[in-house]
Parts: sequence; C-alpha cells; structure tokens
Amino acid sequence: MADIRTTIAGIELRNPTMLASGILGQTGLSLLRIINEGGAGAVVTKSIGMEPREGHGSPCALELDNGLLNAMGLPNPGIDAFEPEMKIALKGDAPIIASIFADDWGKFVNLATRMEEFGANAIELNLSCPHATGYGLEMGSDPVIVHQIVAEVKNAIKIPVFAKLSPTVPDIGKIALAVQEAGGDAIVAINTIKAMKIEPELGMPVLKNKVGGLSGPAIKPAGVRAVYEIAGKVEIPIIGVGGINTGLDALEYFMAGASAVQIGSGVHYRGIDVFGKVNQEISEFMDRKNYSKLNDIIGIARRP
Ligand SMILES: Cc1cc2nc3c(=O)[nH]c(=O)nc-3n(C[C@H](O)[C@H](O)[C@H](O)COP(=O)(O)O)c2cc1C
Repeated sequence: MADIRTTIAGIELRNPTMLASGILGQTGLSLLRIINEGGAGAVVTKSIGMEPREGHGSPCALELDNGLLNAMGLPNPGIDAFEPEMKIALKGDAPIIASIFADDWGKFVNLATRMEEFGANAIELNLSCPHATGYGLEMGSDPVIVHQIVAEVKNAIKIPVFAKLSPTVPDIGKIALAVQEAGGDAIVAINTIKAMKIEPELGMPVLKNKVGGLSGPAIKPAGVRAVYEIAGKVEIPIIGVGGINTGLDALEYFMAGASAVQIGSGVHYRGIDVFGKVNQEISEFMDRKNYSKLNDIIGIARRP
C-alpha cells in the first residue's frame, strides 16, 4: 500500500487530507467527528475574529449546478468563546489549524497569540474571504499588506503560520512570494471565488448579501492553476483546496505542486467520510501506477 503520509512545516500528517475552514458549523465536537469518524489528517477551524459576529442574513448559501455559492459573512463566536471549542477539538488524534481573520495586523497578532495559547498546532491567516468588507481579499490582494501581517504574526508566535490566498488577483505567485519572504511556513490556495446568482423570475439576486463565494467542482481548475503558479515561485509547502471530491481531484493538486489538500464542499457532496474515501482513492491510484510515496508525485506536472 502506498505511503500517503505527509509533513507540512514540521507537522506530521497521517494522511494529506484536511477539513477546509468554515465547513460543518465548526464546533469542537464537529471538528472531533471529522477527525475520528471522517478520517481527516488535520482540521482547520472556522475563521475566528476578535468579537462575536453574526454574519450576513439569509439566504446565505445555495447549491448551483456545479458548486455551492455562500455569503456566510464570517459568522463566529469571537476568540474568547472559542477556547472551550479548541479544547474539545484537541482531544482528537490530528493537528488543529486555527483560522483567523482581522482588519489589521495588530488584531491578527492578538488572535494568533491566543490561538497558540489555546493549543493550536498552526495558524491559518484568512487573507482571502471574497465577501466581507474590510477583511480577507481586500487585504490579501496587496503584497505589502500581506508581508506585514505574516511578518508580525511570525514574530509573535512559535507555531507555523499558513497564509490562505485568493485566485482573483493578477499574479498569485507575487502574493505567495510576499508570504515566503515574510517568513510564512506554507501557502493555502484557494478560497472561494467571488460570484453571484440572479433569479430571473424575480429579477433579483438570490443571496441576501447579493454577492458570495463560489466553491466546489466549478472552481477546481482555478485552484489547480493557482497551485501550479505558486509552486513556480516559492519553496515553502502548498496546501491545495478547491473542488476536491475524489482522489483524482486531489492528485491534480499534488501533481501541480501541493503537499497536502483541504476539502470543504466535498463534505456536502460525499459526507463526512469523504476524507477516508479520498485517501483510499489516492492510495489505489498510486498502487496502480507504482508510486510508493506522496513525494513521488508532488509537482510532477511541472517537470519539463
Ligand atoms: C459555507 C462555507 C463557509 C466557509 N467559511 C470559510 C471561513 O470561515 N474561512 C475561510 O478561510 N474559508 C472559508 N470557506 C472557504 C473554504 O474553506 C474553501 O477554501 C472553499 O470552499 C474551496 O474549497 P471547496 O471547493 O473544497 O469547498 C468557506 C466555504 C464554504 C462553502
């Protein structure tokens, strides 16, 4: 059987599939279920901010032909209320990556420091949410701001720092390079893509927020392209995310240069054991093609 273990920034993963941020309510118990019953190699928490936040009103999510459209608006209980959830999630046998969002670097530092105190194994900076004014993509599309946030957070904590990027920038490699130069430990790509749905009968947008983020199968080609371009620019590991439902989807990301993957909408399409299923499909493919370890396939589509 092929060896699908992988290591990201010194964190050893029993398999390369992680839960993506924001999926499944994100209580400590739901994260624990994803580890114990779903078989994920690691889980990323919902993006957590300084204060409790309700998010955008309903409808905030809908299913389209080939993906999901959501404008949750970063609802979360705030950092203080998240400590007990972290304690529960940490009872599982897999690393917990804490996702955080803020509108300035000082708050990012504060949140990262708290999450490190709570026991998180790594921090994921959400620099890419496409539908929250003042946060996410608005900061993550500027390499100077990205550099400052990553450098300040790195300076403040000891655990690894990942930066999650959006594909809707002119040159994602340039943003990734800013993360690496600031000392960031890994890149996560991609977040959802800004999109909208109009209901012709009503002549109006379906989402309360009008605009949301597209995820699922429709965005996989954009995610694979982003990872491929990032891999051409940086040496730090890349975690691929976007439209992964099957082992073959994950393999595209590995071949583009990713060392691990995250699955979000795939939980909606295939259930919480999507992680175990995808791992099985990756192993079967590798056995059939005589690849003995994940490293044998990472970045092979980049070779001349
Ligand atoms: C309902 C929902 C909520 C999400 N919330 C977050 C979030 O809080 N923070 C974040 O960085 N990404 C969030 N995302 C983006 C996912 O983590 C992921 O990057 C994106 O959905 C693409 O992966 P997928 O096609 O496997 O779903 C969310 C996605 C969905 C569908």
